[in-house]
Amino acid sequence: KGKSKTVWVCSDCGYDDGQWWGICKQCNGVNTMKRFSEGVEHLTSGFEVLENVKRSWLPHQSVRAMPTKLTDVNKGINQSNWRIPLSGLFGAEVGRVLGGGLVPGCLVLIGGDPGVGKSTLLLQIAAIVAEGCDMGGPAPVLYVSGEESIEQIGNRADRMRIGTDELFLYASTDVEDILEKTQTLSLRALVIDSIQTVYLRGVTGSAGGLSQVKECTEVLLRFAKKTNIPVFLIGHVTKSGEIAGPRVLEHIVDVVLYMEGEKCSSHRLLRSVKNRFGSTDELGVFEMSQSGLQAVSNPSEMFLSEQQSDSEFLAGLAVTVIMDGSRAFLIEIQALCVAGSSVSRQVNGVQAGRAEMIISVLIKQAGLKLQENGVFLNVVSGVSLSETAGDLAVAAAICSSFLEFPLPVGIAFIGEIGLGGEIRTVPRMDKRINTVVKLGYKKCIIPKSAETSLSALDLGDTEIVACRNLKEMINIVF
Ligand code: TYD
Ligand code: MG
Repeated sequence: KGKSKTVWVCSDCGYDDGQWWGICKQCNGVNTMKRFSEGVEHLTSGFEVLENVKRSWLPHQSVRAMPTKLTDVNKGINQSNWRIPLSGLFGAEVGRVLGGGLVPGCLVLIGGDPGVGKSTLLLQIAAIVAEGCDMGGPAPVLYVSGEESIEQIGNRADRMRIGTDELFLYASTDVEDILEKTQTLSLRALVIDSIQTVYLRGVTGSAGGLSQVKECTEVLLRFAKKTNIPVFLIGHVTKSGEIAGPRVLEHIVDVVLYMEGEKCSSHRLLRSVKNRFGSTDELGVFEMSQSGLQAVSNPSEMFLSEQQSDSEFLAGLAVTVIMDGSRAFLIEIQALCVAGSSVSRQVNGVQAGRAEMIISVLIKQAGLKLQENGVFLNVVSGVSLSETAGDLAVAAAICSSFLEFPLPVGIAFIGEIGLGGEIRTVPRMDKRINTVVKLGYKKCIIPKSAETSLSALDLGDTEIVACRNLKEMINIVF
């Protein structure tokens, strides 16, 4: 009870493990695994982190503060359970993803690809927190940028028609300087854009490097807990899909949100990946407009309109849900069957052996005459499908192209296919189905054996269809 989790993290590559290894299992670095404790424990054991850092930034009232017992701290938190409400449609959507509002003193990390809209999102959040419609009037919020000048941020705010009086902008990359400046304002929240641009004097390495990112985040965590001011950090996601300073950051902070979106689409998803104060199943849906992000209150319409507009491409297109760590993604699988020509099979993003197996099962068990067909498979947007959970969607896409029958709009497929044509369940069914439901899909095809995992789920308007085998699926869908 109240025990912090200890992990060992490689200081070179960020690989983490539940136990210590002399040689890092990922990069083979020798003696690079360092002990790392997750959570509140840092507040009492993290002093050495600050050894060579000047303490001048600490708020005055806390200079005389004494270490507090973890149990006392938790008692306080549990009793009040107080959250800062976020007002308006946009605020409600963000608040829901945060688990029902903003918790005082929490450290929130928001990750995402460059250009996805993180700065835009945070500027809007900063504005509504500063306005404080549901919080008894305006209070100062500081938006610190190490990436843009205050004029650039000002311009953006102008375009988004943000004119909040209590929103302060500051361009700096020096954490001590930033925290010093916070003392002159009685802040309601602090935003740092981004964690990869800030640095601590006295810590080795350049900004954005593992040790800087880690130490800066720890100092900011201490600041948040001491002052009870919520702090938002923006973190860029690297090519490998992790927030730089790899997993380390995620262990330190209280809440991790990911912002996702396709380059060609205006929709943005805000997903909770870790939340010490709420569920991680929440998904926020937004649309990027001329004047910033707008909450999409009815996601199903959004997805339907998008698909209907390119309905001529729908034959041979099927949607499935894959997991990446704890994140669930929807991906589209395209199939093209060409009769007569060569019987070549080209696959892109699907394992060739797996594709061959699914095609064979379709021939043998479902009676599809694919023998004289060339079959092409492609996973849209270059993701590669490494999970068997996508089997059913691959099969559905092939059927759809072969039968020249476009799949109905708003349908998703989850399931593994066995050699007998049977549809098998896959791990994390609840999480996958939850994503489909949250995104407003009309129908989701799942394995019969997974039906039991549905009992605890709120299915909304989504119809769940459980199938035993491929024949059953084809009869129902086509
Ligand atoms: P930005 O928030 O700068 O992304 P990040 O901080 O994640 O790198 O947003 C980048 C994109 O958003 C940019 O291409 C322009 C677009 N955008 C809009 O479409 N509407 C807006 O109101 C704003 C502010 C940005
Ligand atoms: Mg930015």
